[in-house]
Amino acid sequence: MRDVTILDIFEHHIAQKYLKRSGMAHAIAVAYHAFHLAREHKVDVDIAAKAGFLHDIGHFTWYRNGKWDYELYRKNDIHPIKGAERAHKLLIRLGENPVQAKATSLAILFHTDSFLPSNDIIRTPLQQVVKWADEKDEEEGGNHHYRKIEHERAKQSIIRLDKMIDEEIMSGKSGGGAQLPS
Ligand SMILES: [Fe+2]
Repeated sequence: MRDVTILDIFEHHIAQKYLKRSGMAHAIAVAYHAFHLAREHKVDVDIAAKAGFLHDIGHFTWYRNGKWDYELYRKNDIHPIKGAERAHKLLIRLGENPVQAKATSLAILFHTDSFLPSNDIIRTPLQQVVKWADEKDEEEGGNHHYRKIEHERAKQSIIRLDKMIDEEIMSGKSGGGAQLPS
């Protein structure tokens, strides 16, 4: 039995507030991609799906004169840092196992190189899976952030994903156990 389900996260007002900002449809799509990739690469499906779901929770709105300013965003964005911290706080509040919360937070921190001066991070397989999952759902011009999903449909998708995670864990096939950096 998991301490926290994706539905617990989805229903929390903090997740609703920030995931709607960066796109709930994108968050759900990346969570599904992360689940499937985790299964394929034999890493923990629960952590991968949670990190996929929460990976963009740190986005800030870079508006100037009422319009999104891509230049401001590109120069100043730290959404993976903010997201890693915000997701960690949320998971701990919901009662997540601290080892798992840290692994989830680190996967969010390293899901992109966009905020770093160089792109030479060496990722764990779990962190790599979350990065690939995000890239799978990317659309040109950042359009993936604007795709809409109705609340009830989003909720049903999350319930289905939780069931898939539970089945995978029960079958004993999941990579299991948080992968901490050595
Ligand atoms: Fe993303």
